[in-house]
This record gives sequence, C-alpha cells and structure tokens, in this order.
Amino acid sequence: MTFQLVRATENDLPFIMATERREGYDALVGRWDEPRHREAFADGAHAYFVGIDGSVPIGFVILRGWASAERVTLVKRIAVIAPGQGQGRMLLAAAVDRVFVETDAYRLSIGLFPDNHRARRAYEAVGFKAEGIARGSAFFNGIHRDELVMAQLRPEWEHRQSG
Ligand SMILES: CC(C)(COP(=O)(O)OP(=O)(O)OC[C@H]1O[C@@H](n2cnc3c(N)ncnc32)[C@H](O)[C@@H]1OP(=O)(O)O)[C@@H](O)C(=O)NCCC(=O)NCCS
Repeated sequence: MTFQLVRATENDLPFIMATERREGYDALVGRWDEPRHREAFADGAHAYFVGIDGSVPIGFVILRGWASAERVTLVKRIAVIAPGQGQGRMLLAAAVDRVFVETDAYRLSIGLFPDNHRARRAYEAVGFKAEGIARGSAFFNGIHRDELVMAQLRPEWEHRQSG
C-alpha cells in the first residue's frame, strides 16, 4: 500500500467536512461550514492536503501561513478517519516534510487541547515539542479554551533527516 500526501481540491471538501465531523471529534477538533472552507481555500494563506493510502483518503491536514513571509506556519487542523492506527502520524510526518522542503518555513507549530493525549503522542512522534499553554487561545463552541502549543524548528527537522 502506498501512501501519498496530495494537495486537496475543492472536490475534497465533502471528505474533509465529513472527517472533521466524525463521532467523538466535536470536543477535539474544529469544524467549518462549506463557505468558510471555500473562503480559506481561496485566501492564499491556507494549504489543504489529503492523505491517500492506495486510492483511499485517510485524513486531511490544513496548514495556515503556508510559505508565509514570516516563515512561520501553523497546522491549523488535522484529522484522520481511523485514529490510533498510525495514520495520523504518517499524514503529519508527510505534511511536515512538505512544509520544510517546499517552503522557507523556520517554525511549524500546532495547537491542541491539553487533554488530547493521543494527538500529543502522535505529534511528538513526528518531531513536535511541547512549548507551553496558550491560555484562552481557542474560542471553541462558544468557550474560551486553553491550548497546548507544540512546535518544531527547521534545524530540528534537518537534524532528524540526518539521523
Ligand atoms: C490527532 C490524530 C490526527 C492523530 O492521529 P492517529 O492516527 O490517531 O495517531 P497515531 O495512531 O499515529 O498515534 C497515536 C498515539 O497515541 C496513542 N494513543 C492512542 N489513544 C490514546 C489515549 N487515549 N491516550 C494516550 N495515548 C493514546 C497511541 O498508542 C499512539 O502512540 P504510540 O504509537 O506511541 O503507542 C487523530 O487521532 C485524530 O484525527 N483525532 C481526532 C481529531 C483530533 O484530535 N485532531 C487533532 C486536533 S489538535
């Protein structure tokens, strides 16, 4: 089975929207309606990717600040259909590589709710380090929630390539 990370098209939006709406995900990950996704698609700041295993989509990643002048990029959202099977790690590792290979990004960050231990383990496995708690940084379902900020820097990514 071959895994590929491909740039999404607007035709992938139904898959992306269904994935972010999977049962149990409402407390873990944000979701947008279609107009909001289309707006992000077109604004030049977001890059959408879908992970394909064989010919089957397994999850998506949305990056914000792709090729930004500040050289800082955020993993805005990630979700897979079948969590806990190593697929998120594979998807994110491929997205990390794309960021550092295809852009000049120096810093790649990701925010997660501190109790999302599964996500944290997956992110640590692909080089993200916990930096601290950003208090009240997520306005989520009408509530201001804290986020754990994790990030990796280009030299750390380069070091992992050579190791
Ligand atoms: C976050 C997400 C993309 C990670 O992808 P994934 O495929 O589940 O991750 P992996 O299977 O590669 O790795 C998960 C790790 O967490 C561990 N894990 C699974 N459930 C866990 C739990 N409840 N508590 C702690 N660790 C857990 C797994 O054992 C694995 O670690 P290990 O390989 O070292 O044993 C995926 O879980 C997902 O889509 N979740 C729903 C949406 C979400 O949370 N998005 C992220 C918002 S920031």
